Amino acid sequence: MEIINNIEDYKEILRNEIKNDNLVIFPTETVYGIGANALSEEAVKKIFDVKTRACNNPLIVHLKSKDEIEKYAYIEQEIEKKLIDAFIPGPITIILKKKDCIPGCVTASLDTVGIRVPENNIANRFLEIVDYPIAAPSANISSRPSGTKVDDIKDEFEGKVGYIIDGGESQIGLESTVIKVIDGIPTILRPGFITREMIEEVIGICNISKHVLREVENEKVESPGMMYKHYAPKTKCLLVYSKDINTLRELVKDNLINKTIILGSKKLKDIKCYKFIDYGDTLESISHNIFSKLRECDMYHANLIIIEGVEKVGLGLAIMNRLIRTSEFNYIEK
Ligand code: TXA
Ligand code: MG
Repeated sequence: MEIINNIEDYKEILRNEIKNDNLVIFPTETVYGIGANALSEEAVKKIFDVKTRACNNPLIVHLKSKDEIEKYAYIEQEIEKKLIDAFIPGPITIILKKKDCIPGCVTASLDTVGIRVPENNIANRFLEIVDYPIAAPSANISSRPSGTKVDDIKDEFEGKVGYIIDGGESQIGLESTVIKVIDGIPTILRPGFITREMIEEVIGICNISKHVLREVENEKVESPGMMYKHYAPKTKCLLVYSKDINTLRELVKDNLINKTIILGSKKLKDIKCYKFIDYGDTLESISHNIFSKLRECDMYHANLIIIEGVEKVGLGLAIMNRLIRTSEFNYIEK
């Protein structure tokens, strides 16, 4: 696999890779994506193969500018238009009714498509250079933490992907907010950097899908991605949260076993354990660090990772949505 540092030197190569139905890993402001020509069934199939992704989990289509949206999807409602005007480009994916040119394999046969225009110079330049709509999930093997820097993912895709564009560490570190207007109300299917509060400021109201914080049972689910095991290191995880620092510290101590890693903020630094890993002290830094720190945890061959939870508001909701899945719903809150 070749690592690209200056995209301008590789314009021709990248254009040909995408044209020839190959995969390219590229940075965005949220996480790295593993991209292919969204109009080619053969190319899209490669994404599912390489990631070992379930074929009923639809992909997001990335576009170079918001002027392109109506080539691939219908903007049918005024609220959709308002959301696009307010938040695109940016770390958000809007689910719209798809046009026929988007093949069913991209959308897992749904009649909707997730559309995203990133806000990252390298991502935008890549999309401009290749000049195709790019279907791209997060760059990680399914169920593993999403990739937020090249070093974390290059081995996972060695021999399977020819080129990876290095854009440094992903600025946000968590995947985009996925939003769909349901019965006239914007509904967050996957929380992200664009929060409910930010959307309410523009639209007045915003719902959150009930699957964001709980397990999907046998029921209809708006966002198929919520059904799967996700974001997990190889080591077993336990997520703990309390608003009260003393209760939190007790929760951690009570659950320590032999060879336990504590992954959390400085509040827990002095608790005796196998290894303490600092994930930052603000929601922004935790969001930025979390996937890479989860991967780091695996290097220590521990028996358990106890992860400190955060309050489920603002960006904290997105962090908890990921961590609850990381720990496979193994979660204690007091
Ligand atoms: O930030 C991001 O969104 C990153 C970067 C690369 O853009 N991409 C990403 O893709 O996170 P992925 O495939 O890991 O997650 C896509 C999510 C899944 O939960 C999927 O179920 C949902 O979006 N999704 C995609 N199309 C959908 C649709 N038509 N209806 C409902 N949910 C959809
Ligand atoms: Mg993903």
